[in-house]
Amino acid sequence: MAKSTLAHIVDYPNEPVTFLRQILHAVEEPNFLQAMNLATVDKEFGVLNRTVLFRGLTEDDCVTYATQQFTRSCKNLKANNKCAITFLFPRVMLPSQGPRPLIWQVRLIGASAVQLPESELDLYWEKDELPAQIRAIIFRTGRPSNYEKLKEKHDRFLKDFMESGEPLHRPPTFTAFKIKSLRWDFLKIGMNQIADRLQYRLQDDCQWEVMHVSS
Ligand SMILES: Cc1cc2nc3c(=O)[nH]c(=O)nc-3n(C[C@H](O)[C@H](O)[C@H](O)COP(=O)(O)O)c2cc1C
Repeated sequence: MAKSTLAHIVDYPNEPVTFLRQILHAVEEPNFLQAMNLATVDKEFGVLNRTVLFRGLTEDDCVTYATQQFTRSCKNLKANNKCAITFLFPRVMLPSQGPRPLIWQVRLIGASAVQLPESELDLYWEKDELPAQIRAIIFRTGRPSNYEKLKEKHDRFLKDFMESGEPLHRPPTFTAFKIKSLRWDFLKIGMNQIADRLQYRLQDDCQWEVMHVSS
């Protein structure tokens, strides 16, 4: 027989970033790379989104993102810092929310990005895997490409790098942003359920107002 129940978000913290930390902790595995979807205002297309890596949270509770100066995301954020972010967590085991793994979506609504200063970039560069560092140094995102030419360039670069024994230096095109948000929306749903949403809204006195909203 068909079943239907209502999801209910219970036992939640007063601050959205604390809630995000709890969810991240509940999904984390070794070598786990968390992705998020980032939408920016784009002159040509109106809005443009893409999947990017979540690079952690800053001490002032912002979401971070690293990229190249030549991506549209970077150009867009520099021209207009308004953006939106969605995280999808398809399997989260949070004991406070029920005995089975559940799906969570976290959205940053009314978000804005601030470019990080040069002095903070090495931290992000050093955490990048070798292919990401090579891409940052020798590739130009978004240009028409020829596989054979790119492969030749890549293989020559890799060989020189291996022979040099030196670490790869951060190129001037590497950059990162921190993103803060006026509103955070947490959605929880399980099998045969109607979702519940919990919204944190930043007030003028910098306190978070928290409320359930229907899905
Ligand atoms: C799982 C995943 C993670 C990605 N992470 C990043 C990232 O952290 N930074 C980045 O510049 N591009 C990342 N990309 C590539 C972007 O999705 C996108 O293709 C690229 O940044 C160019 O987009 P844009 O020029 O429209 O901004 C990632 C792609 C995938 C599938």
